[in-house]
Amino acid sequence: MNLESLLTDRLARSFAAVAGGPVDPVVRRSRHADFQAEAALSLARRLGRAPREIAAEVVERAALADLCSAVAVSGPGFVNLTVADDLLGTLLSRIAADPRLGVPTATDPETVVVDYSAPNVAKEMHVGHLRSTIIGDATARLLEWLGHRVVRANHLGDWGTPFGMLIEHLADLGESTAAEELSIGDLDSFYKGARAKFDADEAFRRRARERVVALQGGDESTLRLWRLLVAESESYFLAVYDRLDVLLTRADFVGESHYNPMLGPITDELDQRGLLVESGDAACAFPPGFPGRDGEPVPLIVRKRDGGYGYAATDLAALRYRTRELGATRLLYVVGLPQRQHFEMVYAVARQAGWLRPPARAEHVGFGLVLGADGRKLASRAGDSVKLVDLLDEALARAAALARQKNPNLETAAAAELGRAIGIGAVKYADLSVDRTRDYVFDWDRMLALSGNTAPYLQYAHARIRSIFRRAGRTAPQNGVPILVVEPAERALALELLGFGAVVGAVERTLEFHRLAGHLYAVAVAFSGFFESCPVLRAEPAVRESRLVLCDLTARVLRQGLHLLGIAAPERM
Ligand code: ARG
Repeated sequence: MNLESLLTDRLARSFAAVAGGPVDPVVRRSRHADFQAEAALSLARRLGRAPREIAAEVVERAALADLCSAVAVSGPGFVNLTVADDLLGTLLSRIAADPRLGVPTATDPETVVVDYSAPNVAKEMHVGHLRSTIIGDATARLLEWLGHRVVRANHLGDWGTPFGMLIEHLADLGESTAAEELSIGDLDSFYKGARAKFDADEAFRRRARERVVALQGGDESTLRLWRLLVAESESYFLAVYDRLDVLLTRADFVGESHYNPMLGPITDELDQRGLLVESGDAACAFPPGFPGRDGEPVPLIVRKRDGGYGYAATDLAALRYRTRELGATRLLYVVGLPQRQHFEMVYAVARQAGWLRPPARAEHVGFGLVLGADGRKLASRAGDSVKLVDLLDEALARAAALARQKNPNLETAAAAELGRAIGIGAVKYADLSVDRTRDYVFDWDRMLALSGNTAPYLQYAHARIRSIFRRAGRTAPQNGVPILVVEPAERALALELLGFGAVVGAVERTLEFHRLAGHLYAVAVAFSGFFESCPVLRAEPAVRESRLVLCDLTARVLRQGLHLLGIAAPERM
């Protein structure tokens, strides 16, 4: 059990005795002591007593002698807690001996579907897909590590009316030329080529429309061309994933087309439940609670006027499939914030239809925009959206140069390898270290800086610890040595290391990865303070062994934490 819950449990009992009912003591890290319990302040009104008086009674009743070396009432009614040094040592020994660093697996593991990345066939991935891919991957990693069954669902945009023009364009170009253009990742020029013809040429437009009908009708030669388009795009996306070092594989593509056979049945089911309204030839659902500008309810279009189905119908079918067929109880949608209303409406209709019932719940894991230095949506010089591969190439080149500059003797291959860890790590960390609901500015210099809350800083802290062990001629500390927590810098580091489990637990619920990033940064800063004031290899034997355990534990927490974010921790830097 982690330190925070140990203190919380103990204090909860005395708060309950004072309040005559259950109370969350609200234990937080504090600058005035190790921890602070704040509950007396909010209890005061309810009990009609002064908060300091409540706090004093809690302190009097609390049995904390084995956990704390000091307990005191402070300020308007806080309970300040100073953890006993030997308890810190004992808890550290316990997590040091645990391969999971004291983080337990979930007591009731669930099936979680993570819907993420989801680029569109024959279209370049943009930075929005980059964010989804990075955040979704961290989500999958963290939940999997906690023992949940994670289903990665790459909801590829592989169906819809644009495929008429795309297939006709492919046929015009000839299959092999088209495949070549797509396989080198020239998706945008392919798409634009199709679009230009569609806009300019009436005959092409007619052919494209006929193609859509043939595609929907299951015409075999049309389907073959469609499959070719999908397969080429998938290969290209997989190359991007490989470069990004994310978990997604070919098996995780479950495109929109997968749900085609379910669209008719879900529409019937909605109809039978009286949830469909014919509105101007379209079949719509009107879930309660979504008024438009005019105050009239906003429709969710299930079947379009032309009889076809759109984005919302597919999401309804996918949701039902995920709860019914996959047995998922947690459905996560890692998609930009502009789609919030769409998802809230889909969830609302699914609840009305009985497809989303507790304990199953759906969450939109929304995120903000990536901005350029000018504070506007990131764009290339020509004003187009930035091509993802170009961005990643630049990350790798810049990081390899950085690695070279730090280690002039590094061989080219080693520099490239290190550059990859640093460059990709920097891009991911820049994304994950800010509150995901906010926009962030894409800034190479800042994300690659070796100081501050950046991936290279954390990777460097990790590599520095590994170099201590190399100098000591060892790979790991001795097992089972007592950990002495004496110096203030040792205490500060100990408290951070013991906080890892609580942070991971919070991120499991909130998927606020900036909290994990912020914690790792605090660990690295505490380590640097410790390393400045506490000699390790030059200390007398018992102290040296104890400090080597602290060093190793720090490296392990950093490595595990970075790993959960999808970031590598190289042995040297
Ligand atoms: N393909 C969509 C886009 O590029 C994202 C799909 C998100 N997932 C979903 N289930 N709708 O905007």
